[in-house]
Amino acid sequence: MIRIAAVGDVHVDKDVVGRYRPALEQLPDRADALLVAGDLTRHGTVDEAKCFATEFGGLGVPVVVVLGNHDHQSDQEQQVTEVLTDSGITVLECSATVLEIRGHRLGIAGAKGFGGGFAGACASNFGEREMKQFVGTTEEISARLGEALRSVRCDALVALTHYSPVPDTLVGEPLEIYAFLGCYQLGNAVDSAPTALALHGHAHHGSERGRTPGGVPVRNVAHPVIKQAYNVYQLLSESVDAPLVPA
Ligand SMILES: [Fe+2]
Repeated sequence: MIRIAAVGDVHVDKDVVGRYRPALEQLPDRADALLVAGDLTRHGTVDEAKCFATEFGGLGVPVVVVLGNHDHQSDQEQQVTEVLTDSGITVLECSATVLEIRGHRLGIAGAKGFGGGFAGACASNFGEREMKQFVGTTEEISARLGEALRSVRCDALVALTHYSPVPDTLVGEPLEIYAFLGCYQLGNAVDSAPTALALHGHAHHGSERGRTPGGVPVRNVAHPVIKQAYNVYQLLSESVDAPLVPA
């Protein structure tokens, strides 16, 4: 069995440093890796990236992240990525990594994702140039996530995004903003590979559990949803949901 800890939307800045650390220090006893589903910072500045690296770096387990929309706010996503990478954190964007864990290969493919909506209520690639650019971005990121997922050779495969691949985990959010919280194309990408678990954040008022049309378990790990420093999920196990452990 592989145990992965996951959280999203931790929005670290200098005022948050220290808040997660006590629980994170216990990670090596509880999980084999930590995945963070974007919105690592408040406004995507280099200083905030350093705060995130201080809080989430050097944990004794591998840390793999994707960026969220907040991490793009200052147009410094490249510098933010460099700060994180220099701290030993793996940043995925339409890419994949494999972790060797007690003889098992854990594959993680990640992308920020984008909005667009879900079946019956989605934006379409038609009309104004701006609309086509919006949906084009959605389609390109999703297609590249699918390629990353299908490229991995591993024993257990996880999809890590900021935006949601399904509407199930948005329940609790206003219906009017679903299209800005995720898109069905990400769900198609997840279903195009033998994905064991899809993790996302972004929907602070959503629900934890959902499933893609293809049957892949989806978990919204946004911190306001899971209400603790991280949840732990199990792979190569009968159920992805581990017994609750206070963190
Ligand atoms: Fe977000």
